[in-house]
Amino acid sequence: MWLPCGGTSNYIVTHFRRRLFKAYFRDLGRRRCNVAAFMPEAAGFDGVSDRSALQEFSVSNSESFWAAVARQRLSWIRPFHTVQDCDLSRGEIKWFVGGQLNVSVNCLDRHVHTCPERVALIWERDESGSEVKVTYRELLEMTCRLGNLLRRHGVKRGDCVTIYMPTCPLAVASMLACARIGAAHNVVFAGFSAEALAERIRDAQSGTVITVNQGVRGGKVTELKKTVDTAVQSCPAVQQVFVAMRTENPVAMTARDVEDVVCEPAAMDSEDVLFLLYTSGSTGKPKGLVHTQAGYLLYAALTHRYVFSYHDGDVFGCVADIGWITGHSYSVYGPLANGGTTVLFESTPIYPDPGRYWEMVQRLKINQFYGAPTAIRLLLKYGDEWVHKYDRSTLKTLGSVGEPINTEAWEWYHRVVGDGRCPVVDTWWQTETGGICISPRPSDADAEIVPGMAMRPFFSIKPTLMDTEGKVLTSNDVSGALCIAQPWPGMARTIHNNHQRFIETYCRPHPGYFFTGDGAYRSKEGYYQITGRLDDVINVSGHRIGTAEIEDVLVRTSLSPGVYAFVVLKNDVEVQGAALCQQLNNMVSKKIAKYACPDFIQFVQRLPKTRSGKIMRRVLRKVVERDLDGVGDLSTLDDPTAVQEIIQGHGDLC
Ligand code: PRX
Repeated sequence: MWLPCGGTSNYIVTHFRRRLFKAYFRDLGRRRCNVAAFMPEAAGFDGVSDRSALQEFSVSNSESFWAAVARQRLSWIRPFHTVQDCDLSRGEIKWFVGGQLNVSVNCLDRHVHTCPERVALIWERDESGSEVKVTYRELLEMTCRLGNLLRRHGVKRGDCVTIYMPTCPLAVASMLACARIGAAHNVVFAGFSAEALAERIRDAQSGTVITVNQGVRGGKVTELKKTVDTAVQSCPAVQQVFVAMRTENPVAMTARDVEDVVCEPAAMDSEDVLFLLYTSGSTGKPKGLVHTQAGYLLYAALTHRYVFSYHDGDVFGCVADIGWITGHSYSVYGPLANGGTTVLFESTPIYPDPGRYWEMVQRLKINQFYGAPTAIRLLLKYGDEWVHKYDRSTLKTLGSVGEPINTEAWEWYHRVVGDGRCPVVDTWWQTETGGICISPRPSDADAEIVPGMAMRPFFSIKPTLMDTEGKVLTSNDVSGALCIAQPWPGMARTIHNNHQRFIETYCRPHPGYFFTGDGAYRSKEGYYQITGRLDDVINVSGHRIGTAEIEDVLVRTSLSPGVYAFVVLKNDVEVQGAALCQQLNNMVSKKIAKYACPDFIQFVQRLPKTRSGKIMRRVLRKVVERDLDGVGDLSTLDDPTAVQEIIQGHGDLC
């Protein structure tokens, strides 16, 4: 029997539609499920069905995004009532207002409850092959002992404790002990000189210092305690110095005469200070950037988890020193907040030989390796054999940070170190940003990665490029000043004791935006590539230093300097040539640190200046780079022949 035509077609259509709907819902379900599996906190986000939707959601609904992540990822003593209260133009940044938590509880206690014997720290000591493992239970005990010790010696909530130590478990326990009792820490890189240390202790108004008797790095012993002794002579506020024994007993702390291993954690407000960290700016005085509790911790944890695709059970190998922000966020706070196992690297990339990193990767079974381009460039010169010697099959992700990574180094890292199978994440961020802001991951596992490009903004980050007149560049294939258009939880809140400087440096140049001080290029595809600093900050072997800081020191030797360094001698200077260079280098090393010493010093008659007397650093930089075509317009110079003189004298270096 024939069915009426319409009926038949209706039936078929309905049937077909139902099948289609089923497939559609199945697919939607799977995609929803994928996003939730990728990031459990995203399960409740409306209309977020894939990763790119998640990224868009995090930018346009930044409050909902961070509220959900904060509720689920952190343990709160008291929940927050307001997600954010920020005004970028006034430099007022507050996240998770009304909330209370303790950072050390988030990094330790909650993991001790679930997996006390999991390894929290692997201390890769300078002496290769003598690593020390510290479980979460042990680290909590160390932290509590130290917290009690500090409390007993009068350190109170809100005080600032300076930590001048090499990268080691005791340094981590010291940081966490401060967090436990509500004191702020101020870690000073143990390579800094007594004067640089003293300046940071004084500026932070720190009354307590924790150090070790001696440091060991690359087989060389450094007298850290003696440096502290010298430094505190000019720091009248310092009441006490705690000294641990690095060179006799690496875990001496546990032998301290403090028996109480329970230390009541302080309930800290989200916006109480967690730490100060000094970094160079474009003027002479280093600035103490202030990071607070909840927002910083959450941002470090989330970036650690998603940029590196860190999973439970992985061994995370960040080789930065804890004296820098990379050590803070990715050796300590990010991994520990995630209950991870993190390596503390005390040595150098070439000690005892250039295979050090990769032998360590094999021995410790490292899954994510995070290092600096300067080390990668150094190692590639030693050849592939040092890498091939060791099994690197545990590696899953390779990270780079601190300066642009050139294509040759990137390719070598990817092809030789990662055997061409590990994504390389070139991560761009700063002490000010608290955590990674631009990097190729997170993104779909097969999303392209362009060598030497940081590429994609992290969740909720909205990079913006400005032209020289301060207008937003909206198109692609453009370069400009890199700003971030909306606040994020990890950003620094202020400069210690100098909020005005904070506003002037970061908020005033482009009102309503956070100005990073870096330039960037946005490609046709919309990917970001960092082109370098726009101010007078330079990167020396991955260390950030203000040219003004070095100049300050050189000037004090009664000579007139430049950067690279161009030095103008006064008429009455008697020492000359190599002896003078030696003297200048010694001064910089003594006043700041060895790494800040100029590699080259060129003595010149005069410097190129504008008619108003400003040194034309742009021109000097081009001369140094031998990019004479790029010297550009010299018409504003007082006397353009000064440039010619410098170019001609370019070979006279010491
Ligand atoms: O110029 C950028 C460069 O390092 C500066 C930040 O230095 P610091 O605060 O010491 O923090 C370093 C570790 C995060 C930035 O302003 N920088 C950092 N990462 C990159 C970079 N330049 C290019 N590419 C990067 N991946």
